[in-house]
Amino acid sequence: MTNNPALKEYLDTCQTRVDQALNHWLPADTIQPEKLHQAMRYATFNGGKRIRPLLVYATGQALGMEPDKLDGAACAVELIHAYSLVHDDLPAMDDDDLRRGKPTCHKAFDEATAILTGDALQTLAFQVLSRDPTLPQNPEIRLAMLETLTLASGSRGMAGGQALDLDAIGKTLDIAQLENMHIHKTGALIRASVKMATLCAPETSPDTAKKLDHYAKCIGLAFQVQDDILDVESDTETLGKTQGKDQDQDKPTYPALLGLPEAKRRAQELYQEALDSLATLDDKADPLRWLAHYIIQRSH
Ligand code: IPE
Ligand code: IPE
Ligand code: MG
Ligand code: MG
Ligand code: MG
Repeated sequence: MTNNPALKEYLDTCQTRVDQALNHWLPADTIQPEKLHQAMRYATFNGGKRIRPLLVYATGQALGMEPDKLDGAACAVELIHAYSLVHDDLPAMDDDDLRRGKPTCHKAFDEATAILTGDALQTLAFQVLSRDPTLPQNPEIRLAMLETLTLASGSRGMAGGQALDLDAIGKTLDIAQLENMHIHKTGALIRASVKMATLCAPETSPDTAKKLDHYAKCIGLAFQVQDDILDVESDTETLGKTQGKDQDQDKPTYPALLGLPEAKRRAQELYQEALDSLATLDDKADPLRWLAHYIIQRSH
């Protein structure tokens, strides 16, 4: 996954943490309705990179927090992400058969179950934010976290970005429209991951919060630029999803609009801007720096 041993160790530790939290919150697949609960677990425990939870933990670490205060936020954002992928793969959206190297949820189960799986994962995320005992007990902070995740998930965040994406099929967007679509469909949840962790550390200065938010904005966009690049350059086995789908479906992407070299240059530029934003933070912010690098050089 990465050549950086420190990052590898960090990834493993955080992935184990968030998997434990997800396992705690997801109903057992022996509980009725069994098929829905099986599908929810299938869509969550099928090999995701857990980038958004990692960003929650890494932001918390940069702000001097212990990871056990961040499990609820990490779990909630990953539930929203898992839901977004289940719906993104549906025939009415990207119509994909493969996700994380396995049949997509609607292929492994059926379309109705996949729709309900997304619905149920989404609402579970907000239950976690309302009730998880690891999160700050201050109700104002909880409400701010809930608002952050709802805004990032809804029509002015991820769902809105998905609407722009579907509307753009077959059209030529200009760079500002493409960037706007990417910022919403992918960037919003990444930005919310960093913001929720920042909210868990209320003593954070406004200046540091602003720098972290700018970092998140840059890597959120870089994440989707790299996703678009991989759709062109990688292969189905490495990706765990069908390579070349964007071109097949005539989706506007960075490589389609600018060409691969310029798309890569843009990813690099966003990476540098993200690092610059962390310049005044000490070495506790190193995992955030490693993650920014990982986001633009990952192979899947
Ligand atoms: C894929 O996200 C969808 C996009 C927002 C580009 P990830 O690449 O984070 O997917 P997983 O969770 O690791 O499978
Ligand atoms: C997905 O973008 C973004 C969301 C799920 C919100 P893509 O459609 O490019 O993601 P992949 O390539 O299918 O993972
Ligand atoms: Mg899509
Ligand atoms: Mg897709
Ligand atoms: Mg893609």
